[in-house]
Amino acid sequence: ESVYLNGEWLAPEAAKVSVFDRGFLFADGIYEVVPVYQGQPFLLEHHLARLERSLAALAIESAGQQFWLELIDDLLARNQSDNALVYIQVTRGAEAKRSHLPQGPLAPTIFASVSAMPVHWDVPAPAQATLLEDIRWLRCDIKSISLLGNIMLKQQAQACGALEPILHRDGLITEGASSNYFAVKNGELYTAPTDHLILPGITRMWVIELARELGIPVHEQAFAVTDLAQLDELFLTSSSREVQPIGQIDDIIIGQGGCGKVTEQLVHAFHASKR
Ligand code: PDD
Repeated sequence: ESVYLNGEWLAPEAAKVSVFDRGFLFADGIYEVVPVYQGQPFLLEHHLARLERSLAALAIESAGQQFWLELIDDLLARNQSDNALVYIQVTRGAEAKRSHLPQGPLAPTIFASVSAMPVHWDVPAPAQATLLEDIRWLRCDIKSISLLGNIMLKQQAQACGALEPILHRDGLITEGASSNYFAVKNGELYTAPTDHLILPGITRMWVIELARELGIPVHEQAFAVTDLAQLDELFLTSSSREVQPIGQIDDIIIGQGGCGKVTEQLVHAFHASKR
């Protein structure tokens, strides 16, 4: 196993960054996660476009499209990864002393690694979720490494036996702590719009695409907390979980509590699109 750090290929335990790295001191950085199926990055151009948007939002200079493509190629060649998740992190870099305001332009710290991902071909068992208030900041569209809110919410969810917290802000469902959601009502899909309050998930985008091909109407319109009990189906999407049916939120059973018909259709369409 070898990881990339600032131009070097290293054993994971040999990869070290400065304590004055702004990623360490301020979480001043961004990341990207790209799924890999049969050795091929999935929806790569969309992930790289999001990486560029995150960097631009923080005014960190990008190493450039060609660099990212070669980095991912090298990573996969060195790590024999059939089905995997590529992790890329870029921080603003290390400086001489701690200072909130960056002292001049720095060389960004670039780290990349690969981890194995079990590939799913079955319909996942419905999971339990819990509804929690979205306590995160107002720029959730940036894939920032500052994930304290997400972590606190995930810990709270785990403590009540839920796979994922489903977050709400001002009466509307935003997303999960590391996933987007789709609500199904009368055969139509509802998901929060891609504003500053959610991460524009690549899996979310792909599921919208698949739904349109299947003739399932999609509304990019956030679902209201007060309508949760009326839902027919609910599922989450992310690069690692793909399409994950939710059978229950706290005491509310969604539909029959199993995997609904529309969700199942999209799980199969998603699997087929990975080949
Ligand atoms: N999760 N929303 C948040 C807050 C996330 O952290 C993620 C990604 C998503 C889904 O995005 P995508 O479909 O592009 O993975 C939504 C990490 C990367 C994961 O669980 O894979």
